[in-house]
Amino acid sequence: MSEHFVSETLNKKDVEFDITLRPARFTDFVGQHKVRERLELFVEAAKGRGDVLDHVLLSGPPGLGKTTLANILAEAMGANLKATSGPVIDKPGDLAGLLTSMERGDVLFIDEIHRMQKAVEEYLYSAMEDFVIDIMIDQGPHARSVRLNLPRFTLIGATTRSGLLTAPLRSRFGLNARLDYYSAKDLQSIITRSARILNVDVDEAGAREIAGRARGTPRIANSLLRWVRDYAQVKAGNKITKDVADKALAMLDIDEHGLDEMDKRILETIIQKFGGGPVGVSSLAVSVGEEADTLEEVYEPYLIMEGYLHRTPQGRVATDRAYAKFGLKPGGKQSSLL
Ligand SMILES: Nc1ncnc2c1ncn2[C@@H]1O[C@H](COP(=O)(O)OP(=O)(O)OP(=O)(O)O)[C@@H](O)[C@H]1O
Ligand SMILES: [Mg+2]
Repeated sequence: MSEHFVSETLNKKDVEFDITLRPARFTDFVGQHKVRERLELFVEAAKGRGDVLDHVLLSGPPGLGKTTLANILAEAMGANLKATSGPVIDKPGDLAGLLTSMERGDVLFIDEIHRMQKAVEEYLYSAMEDFVIDIMIDQGPHARSVRLNLPRFTLIGATTRSGLLTAPLRSRFGLNARLDYYSAKDLQSIITRSARILNVDVDEAGAREIAGRARGTPRIANSLLRWVRDYAQVKAGNKITKDVADKALAMLDIDEHGLDEMDKRILETIIQKFGGGPVGVSSLAVSVGEEADTLEEVYEPYLIMEGYLHRTPQGRVATDRAYAKFGLKPGGKQSSLL
């Protein structure tokens, strides 16, 4: 069935871009070798015992493949997947409704699980552990609690902020898989694969060029590819070379290290407005006009990994590398001999 599904998807021209490029099986999932190995083993073991897959937590920055892996896991288990997200479930009854409509082995995928309400989260504990849920019906003097037995199901939680998960919730997952930014080489393979699916002509150097600017993130790699494809179609006879990729990406203000405008604004603000730091994340957020959460989830992890930013207990600090990026030296805008 998966074979058929994949080829059908790939041959349709009008299907949604993201879904078209989303790998449907482990074999098409590039990179993240350790995570992939563990998940494949987890699936194989559960299947070998004829058991339901234990709950899995997927964490990591946006666009690295959490939703993709949730779908691959369900597919590999031959299970149905029901998707929802933390903020959407606003009362315990919603959760009960979702869970009671499932069949044994089905997967409930909760995206942004760190944003689930506390009251709902507490109901999830017994559901995950004992496959029961106690819900209150009626109010006032007639209020009583009714215990519902649930089918054995798999919860797959995804979060960009595993640090915000409560300990009781975290401990109820059988496997905690953390996704990291992809290497340029893995991104190059993803771009080559996507180009093949989209029927785009890209040479090796062209794919490498796009990969180097994708912030370690497959979703960004794919969207850059789409942009470069459009550029090539209009300006370069449909062929993506290094030079074509270069010119197309320059139009988006993405520099050769993959930093985009917001990345640069963050670093510049720390250096120019806050003397290089330390500066607290909320002051920084106000200054750059972005939500503090978004700074922490989306921008900082990459800047930290690439060595532009440090997190200290006092706040964020620009590194020498950040200064160098703007042709400045730490300690002042004027260059000093020390
Ligand atoms: N390992 C991979 N190999 C190939 N393509 C990938 C891989 N991981 C992700 N992608 C591509 O990147 C896109 C984004 O991945 P996905 O939606 O799974 O990210 P996510 O981690 O769920 O992001 P978010 O936190 O924003 O929900 C997918 O549609 C898919 O095309
Ligand atoms: Mg997702």
